[in-house]
Parts: sequence; C-alpha cells; structure tokens
Amino acid sequence: MPSAFRPDAFAGKTVFVAGASSGINLGIAHGFARAGARLALISRTAERIQAAADTITAAGGTAIGMAADVRDYAAVEAALVRAQDELGPIDVVISGAAGNFLAPVVGMSANAFKTVVDIDLLGTFNVFRASFDHLNKPGASLIAITAPQAVNAMMFQAHACAAKAGINMLIKCLAMEWGPAGVRVNGISPGPIADTEGMARLAPTPEMEARYKARLALRDYGTKDDIADAAMYLSSDNARYVTGTILDCDGGSKLGDASADALKKPQ
Ligand code: COA
Ligand code: NAP
Repeated sequence: MPSAFRPDAFAGKTVFVAGASSGINLGIAHGFARAGARLALISRTAERIQAAADTITAAGGTAIGMAADVRDYAAVEAALVRAQDELGPIDVVISGAAGNFLAPVVGMSANAFKTVVDIDLLGTFNVFRASFDHLNKPGASLIAITAPQAVNAMMFQAHACAAKAGINMLIKCLAMEWGPAGVRVNGISPGPIADTEGMARLAPTPEMEARYKARLALRDYGTKDDIADAAMYLSSDNARYVTGTILDCDGGSKLGDASADALKKPQ
C-alpha cells in the first residue's frame, strides 16, 4: 500500500538517522527520502553505511553516509557537524542503533550486558544530546526506536529490556526539558517487523515465526514501511502537539497473548 505522505511532504528537510545501515532504520530513511528529505546516516562501519546511502541516491534521493559508533560521543558530534554543514540544520533525528542477542542472565558477562546498554541507551543519549545544538528549532522532531521489551519483561532479554526501558524514560525527560525550545521528543515501539536482523535473532526458525504471529492480535509481522510512516507522522505538523509519547506500531504485541490457545481453561 502506498504511503499517505506526499513526495514533497519533507522537501527541504534534513533527517539524521543513527543505526541506518540496515533494517528498520534504513527503511525509515528511505521513507523520508521518498517524501523529499535529505538524509544523513551513521553506523559503525564506513562500507556498510556508504552502501546504505548509495541505495537512497540510486533511488533518486540525497544521502550521505558516515561511520560513527553511537558509544563514541565525539564521533557522533563530528557526524552531526558534517551533516549540518553539508545538508543544513537538522529537522528530524532518529536514534535507532541497537544490539541484541538471546541470552539468559547467567550466560551473559557484565560486558555483554554493558554492551547492549551502551549501544541502545547511552547511544540514544549521545545522539540526542549531541544533536541539540544542530537542530532547526523550533519545530525539530526527535524519535527514539524503542521496543515492547521496554514494558514487557521477556526471557533472555534482560539487557535489551533494561536498555529500552531506560530509553522510554529518557524520551519523557527530554520532552519536558526541550519542549520549551520547540523540540518534540517521542518514541516508536515496533512490534515484530519482517525481514530484519532483530527478528532473525529473536525468532530464527519458521516454527518460532509462526508461533510469534499466532499470538499477535493482527496475526502478522509489520513492515519497515509501517515504521517509516509512523516516524513521518510523528515528525509532521499533524503531530505538532504530540511529545513525550511512545507510539506502539506493533500489531498488538504489547497487549499480550491474543492466540486462541490463550482462551483455553487450565485442565
Ligand atoms: N550471548 C552471550 N554473550 C554475548 C553474545 C551472545 N549471543 N554475543 C555477544 N556476547 C558478549 C561477548 O562475549 C562480549 O562479552 P565478553 O567481552 O565478556 O566476552 C560482549 O557481548 C560484547 O561482544 P562484542 O562482540 O565485543 O560486541 P560488539 O560491540 O562488537 O557487538 C553485539 C555488539 C554483541 C550486540 C553484536 O551482536 C552486534 O554488533 N549487533 C548489532 C546488530 C544487532 O544486534 N541487530 C539487532 C538489533 S535489535
Ligand atoms: P539492524 O538491521 O541490525 O539495525 C541495527 C543498526 O544499528 C544497524 O544499522 C547497525 O549498523 C547499527 N549499529 C549497531 N551498533 C551500533 C553502534 N554501536 N553505533 C552505530 N550504529 C550501530 O536491526 P533491526 O532489527 O532493523 O532493528 C532496528 C531498531 O529497531 C533497533 O533499535 C531495534 O531494537 C528496534 N526494534 C526492532 C524490531 C524488529 O522486529 N526487528 C522490533 C522492535 C524494535 P552497523 O552494524 O553497520 O553498525
């Protein structure tokens, strides 16, 4: 289904996306590019992020790719400076870099836990904090990509649950502090999204994928375009009075088990 956003909806706007070499975040970047925005993309490796930027320019858009690890504040700051110099003040920031793997807590070293918290939570702080001086204010829109793990405890996901819960609270604190400057800060909580590294790690077999879908109210995975549309809504004038909120775009994931099995009475 085509997006409801016109090809010129974000014309003249600059969008900075962290963690944009693949998956949902690259899908968001493509959505904004199709709606006329100029894109600045970062991820850890120069080759991967340049290849991602090339997919946007090949489709007729404008994009630069820069290597920057979100755990490295100076690197993120340098990328934002270059983005502003080359593309203009930044209207939209998407913070979506993340790391994840399934592991029980006893199978997780302190460094394993710290690695995920550093990429997800500290990384989101770094991206948002460093962006503040480069934003087109008033009017800028900041969006963190969180997850249902932020509010639903999940087996073998202690690191991601803790990190994403921290992100949800960071969103709300920043919305309060930066609202007076005309900066809105929101989050998107995607449910399971098709053809992503995240779901390849969380539901690696067809059987696990089928079980996941059977429990969802909407009975299917979402698409990267679903999340791109949510990000464009939150960054549009239609959402000018929306800040500090987390938009669940998740097929009902957060509601819990909606399978027929959930209705069975215990024998
Ligand atoms: N189970 C338990 N521990 C694991 C693990 C697993 N499956 N995978 C990595 N770790 C541990 C490592 O052993 C290491 O701990 P140690 O130093 O005590 O041995 C720690 O995590 C850091 O691993 P490292 O490979 O050095 O980190 P990195 O910064 O290079 O990579 C990851 C980060 C581990 C999150 C990696 O999976 C990654 O790059 N992910 C990005 C893509 C992704 O996760 N996408 C899905 C997003 S939802
Ligand atoms: P993905 O393709 O692996 O995306 C993760 C991105 O983060 C990659 O571009 C990766 O690029 C980048 N990255 C990782 N560590 C980084 C670091 N230290 N610094 C900078 N960039 C870094 O995974 P995805 O599944 O699409 O997930 C994207 C986002 O959606 C994540 O925030 C995830 O938690 C969230 N989410 C996903 C789902 C889902 O169904 N997939 C559901 C809910 C939430 P490099 O490797 O090139 O650095």
